[in-house]
Amino acid sequence: MSTPATVILGTGSYAPDRVLTNEDLSKMVDTSDEWIRARSGIRERRIAAADQATSDLAVQASLRALEASGVPASEIDLVVVATVTPDYPMPSTACIVQHKLGVPTSAACFDVNAACSGFIYALDTACALVSSGRYRRALVVGAEKLSSVVDWQDRGTCMLFGDGAGAVVVGPGTTPGLGLIGTKLGALGEDTDLLYIPGGGSRLPTSAESIARGDQFIKMKGKEVFKLAVRVMEEAARDILEQHGFQAHQIDLVIPHQANLRIIDAIAQYLELPVERFFVNVDRYGNTSAASIPIALDEARRSGRIKAGDLTLLVAFGAGLTYGSALIRW
Ligand code: UT7
Repeated sequence: MSTPATVILGTGSYAPDRVLTNEDLSKMVDTSDEWIRARSGIRERRIAAADQATSDLAVQASLRALEASGVPASEIDLVVVATVTPDYPMPSTACIVQHKLGVPTSAACFDVNAACSGFIYALDTACALVSSGRYRRALVVGAEKLSSVVDWQDRGTCMLFGDGAGAVVVGPGTTPGLGLIGTKLGALGEDTDLLYIPGGGSRLPTSAESIARGDQFIKMKGKEVFKLAVRVMEEAARDILEQHGFQAHQIDLVIPHQANLRIIDAIAQYLELPVERFFVNVDRYGNTSAASIPIALDEARRSGRIKAGDLTLLVAFGAGLTYGSALIRW
């Protein structure tokens, strides 16, 4: 009999109140609601308030995940935050979240940067640490304030991204066959410049010149990223299914990274699955990078789209370029 896998004990998510519609955007750049909906499926996105940082979004989502799991903050011994928009370059956002939640000082806290695949990377890391017995209760968060790194004059990127956070509490399982069945992570490091923020790191430290050039903003070669996203997410989905002896039709719900409805449609077509089998909320939030999968997971759980015994596939692709997939039995 197989040993029990790690399990998700509870989920939570949070989106800031301010809604930025396509109509609003069309007053800021040369675009239209029709173009954005047709090319991406996005109708609106959430924008954090000026005084809200990524940790503030993360804390709200975490409180909801802790409540849903019934695990008090005092029992958390590991905090992993996936983000590309940390409150500060140093220290990690996980330490700030730990303090705000009242997680004990004996907890290990660190960030993971794997962009839109970040939540699956963080989940895999936390589950490995919990299943090793080193930690018992992990808080895994995906949180982003992408509005702080978006070039609001670049119509090719600004309509895509939004702010938000999602979180899960992870613990050791008790029932063999239930929980995280497996994960597959990978990276295509040669394609870093297809999607990146050039400035503010050690290669191009912030300077008056770098700011004047707009190096602090997200740069993306959208078409190339689109094609790779479809191919690599399909492969990541197929690989993990094959590795664990499943067929695509056995998946009850796919929770894909929410980047573009056309990407989701294409993956559904290649996997020969009805698109209804995919959870979609990109229309309401746009692409929230590391937050996209945990927000979708929480909405799927709370709306009854995931039931006991269901098989869920998570699959993501993002800057790095990174990819990841995970299979969960509930
Ligand atoms: O999280 C993982 C990473 N991100 C992604 O997965 C995103 C992947 N990429 C995409 O989703 C798509 O590439 C976009 C939605 C960003 C763009 O769609 P596209 O079909 O690839 O359009 P495009 O960038 O090739 O642009 C086509 C045309 C261009 O005009 P010309 O050169 O054909 O005259 C653009 O200038 O559309 C123009 N365009 C716009 N027009 C109106 C680009 N952005 C806009 C806009 N409104 N917002």
